[in-house]
Amino acid sequence: MKFTTLFLATLVGFVIAGDNDNKEHKKGGHKKNGNLTSQERSCKKMWKLTNIIETSNNQTKMDEIERNHPDRVTKIKEKAAKAQAQVSRLQSNATLQQFCGVYHAHEQLKHQCYEINHVDKISNNIKNKTAVDEASKHKNRTADQVKQKWQKEVDHVKTLQSNKTLVDMCKKMKDGKDSKKGAKQQKNGGSHIQAAGTGALVLSVLAAVLMI
Ligand SMILES: *[C@@H]1O[C@H](CO)[C@@H](O)[C@H](O)[C@H]1NC(C)=O
Ligand SMILES: *[C@@H]1O[C@H](CO)[C@@H](O)[C@H](O)[C@H]1NC(C)=O
Ligand SMILES: *[C@@H]1O[C@H](CO)[C@@H](O)[C@H](O)[C@H]1NC(C)=O
Ligand SMILES: *[C@@H]1O[C@H](CO)[C@@H](O)[C@H](O)[C@H]1NC(C)=O
Ligand SMILES: *[C@@H]1O[C@H](CO)[C@@H](O)[C@H](O)[C@H]1NC(C)=O
Ligand SMILES: *[C@@H]1O[C@H](CO)[C@@H](O)[C@H](O)[C@H]1NC(C)=O
Repeated sequence: MKFTTLFLATLVGFVIAGDNDNKEHKKGGHKKNGNLTSQERSCKKMWKLTNIIETSNNQTKMDEIERNHPDRVTKIKEKAAKAQAQVSRLQSNATLQQFCGVYHAHEQLKHQCYEINHVDKISNNIKNKTAVDEASKHKNRTADQVKQKWQKEVDHVKTLQSNKTLVDMCKKMKDGKDSKKGAKQQKNGGSHIQAAGTGALVLSVLAAVLMI
């Protein structure tokens, strides 16, 4: 389950990058969430609960939460205690586990493509004092901490971008979506359809994680 934490940790790091952007995507995220299959919902539930358990077991992380949001500590511990039975039950289902493995790979690819497509925004935000101050206030972190976190994300995307296979896959996915969008627009007499994009799905997981 280590991969899940990594995946979710990246997501959480990412949310502070562009608040305006996120608000838009979150709307799409909820809409898309309504259309998830029951298997997809089970996977997301399992990832969310696993993340809560791992957070509660990670003293470094709990210390950080205690420092910044002392009111959340008890809540996380309570949730983690309840989560274990449910996670064990979900994990004992081999059919579901197999599905979640494939689903996770797919979601991760979409997330990585989303990161690649939005890295310019983060780079710009690092230089944008207003954006840094807003995030710093929102996250109860110093401006330097915010900038460090964003820089880490930018560096992480640089390693992603060095993977040509991944960059090509993202490009194909984007092209496919654009042409689908184009077809839809034509069918609707050119009216603009807001497609729930890559970020939407990813951020719906994220919304769940942040609700701790
Ligand atoms: C679910 O999907 C269908 C078909 O793609 C779409 O028409 C409908 O609006 C979607 N529902 C929600 C809540 O997004
Ligand atoms: C615990 O959390 C810290 C800070 O978020 C992280 O760097 C570390 O890798 C985590 N440890 C484990 C065992 O997951
Ligand atoms: C913000 O962080 C400081 C220390 O880092 C802490 O003392 C304070 O309680 C936190 N404020 C909120 C609103 O969580
Ligand atoms: C295991 O998961 C599959 C897929 O979600 C589901 O159809 C099946 O009913 C589950 N089996 C048990 C024993 O819960
Ligand atoms: C800086 O960030 C603020 C808040 O996110 C945004 O409104 C503004 O447009 C940004 N400025 C530039 C030059 O990108
Ligand atoms: C590059 O990305 C692809 C697609 O996500 C992945 O299968 C592959 O393992 C990655 N290669 C490296 C060296 O990380």
